[in-house]
Amino acid sequence: MNPLLAMLHRLFVSMESIERKAVVAALRRAGNVLPASLSLGRRVQLDVHARGRLVCGERVSVLQDSWLMVEDGDAMEFGDDVFISQHCTVSGSVRIGRDTLIAAYVTIIDANHVIERADVPIRLQGGVKRPIRIGEDVWIGASSVILPGVTIGDHAVVGANSTVTRDVPAWAIVAGSPARVLRMREHP
Ligand SMILES: CC(C)(COP(=O)(O)OP(=O)(O)OC[C@H]1O[C@@H](n2cnc3c(N)ncnc32)[C@H](O)[C@@H]1OP(=O)(O)O)[C@@H](O)C(=O)NCCC(=O)NCCS
Repeated sequence: MNPLLAMLHRLFVSMESIERKAVVAALRRAGNVLPASLSLGRRVQLDVHARGRLVCGERVSVLQDSWLMVEDGDAMEFGDDVFISQHCTVSGSVRIGRDTLIAAYVTIIDANHVIERADVPIRLQGGVKRPIRIGEDVWIGASSVILPGVTIGDHAVVGANSTVTRDVPAWAIVAGSPARVLRMREHP
């Protein structure tokens, strides 16, 4: 690489790292739980509002370009060893159990726009939030979307590119849009 570009790159990386440390320290002071074992990739955004709460277990990893959005009144909680890959969006009251894997480009948002009125633009009608619960040891395949109010049971698998509109039983393998049960995982 051109030496000037290489120097600029190092500068950007170190500035990002200084900013990251300041953001994490401020979030801790505000009562969020971000253990030292938390691993955040480059350009991960921690958008936690003053009256929202983010609680991470030990060894949580979030890869580059993912976005965690916790607005006022939201509670986002990740168990130990939760892994969130790159370019994911997790927004609102979302609880993810320990050992769960979220593949790249997954979207988990707890809110819908209200669309009841015909005489008012959708953007002015407000929203409805319904918490999302994802169990322990779940694997969510790449580019999937998990809709508001959904509960995914422990040890379930969501196939790539699925839209999960309804609750998923524990140990189920689901896929498709809308996601349907393909089969159950064998278990003791
Ligand atoms: C869901 C998954 C685990 C199922 O694997 P599997 O048990 O080996 O399933 P099979 O390949 O035997 O497929 C069984 C049926 O489900 C269908 N199917 C499998 N995955 C599907 C998906 N993601 N969406 C829609 N249908 C799917 C298959 O077409 C097949 O249908 P058919 O019986 O009509 O031919 C896998 O297909 C998958 O989506 N993995 C996620 C990969 C990923 O996101 N990796 C990111 C890195 S972590």
